[in-house]
Amino acid sequence: MKVKVFDNSALLYDYLCEKVISKIKENPNITLGLPTGSTPIPLYERLIQAYIDHKVDFANVTSINLDEYVGLGPTHNQSYRYFMDNTLFDHININKANTFVPNGMAKDLKQECENYHNLLVLKKVDLQILGIGTNAHIAFNEPGSSFESITRVVPLSKSTRNDNRRFFKKLEDVPKKAISMGISDILLAKKIIIVAVGSHKAEAIKNMIQGPITEEVPASALQMHSDVLVLLDQEAAKLL
Ligand code: F6R
Repeated sequence: MKVKVFDNSALLYDYLCEKVISKIKENPNITLGLPTGSTPIPLYERLIQAYIDHKVDFANVTSINLDEYVGLGPTHNQSYRYFMDNTLFDHININKANTFVPNGMAKDLKQECENYHNLLVLKKVDLQILGIGTNAHIAFNEPGSSFESITRVVPLSKSTRNDNRRFFKKLEDVPKKAISMGISDILLAKKIIIVAVGSHKAEAIKNMIQGPITEEVPASALQMHSDVLVLLDQEAAKLL
């Protein structure tokens, strides 16, 4: 893993945005793997500005999101489809038909997961952007998830539901399950950039980089990938 630590998060996101833009320029038909959550928001803001400034063209870009809550549809303001549309897709010239987020309302969730996994195998993510949970989850692969896992329905841990509670009125409103790309799905990506900002991520980052490769630390699976870049601010890097 290559690790880069920035003096502040603004510098980190400027760097990340430039990296994503240069990858799109290199390959306008790129497939991006995208996360939701707080971490990518400053990246998406910068990408929108770059689009407005004619610095990047998303016309032929495909995107594949990591996960979606089970039971929340595209019009629910906490669904990840809603988040992606509002935070990025509706503000750039990406073809919506080429943006993929699992359907958390699918009648047959098992089939939905199988189709999503097949999509990943077919499209092959060129650049995967990841955030990390305070318990070192990636996507919604909670501690104990198999490194062999593919897209499936997963229960959300207490700590993740607590972390995400801030987006909902009350804890009971936070869904208990999600559809998530598996660890082995994520490792299919050709290049991975994982981003962490803030001291609450420091322990997860230390375990991911310096700890043993163990299913108890889902992000430690990234040590097995040959092209991973870790972008951190000073706080997230403070235990390294
Ligand atoms: C989101 C996702 C999650 C988040 C993680 C960090 O699609 O898959 O793994 O990346 O929970 O969330 P934030 O960025 O809100 O701290």
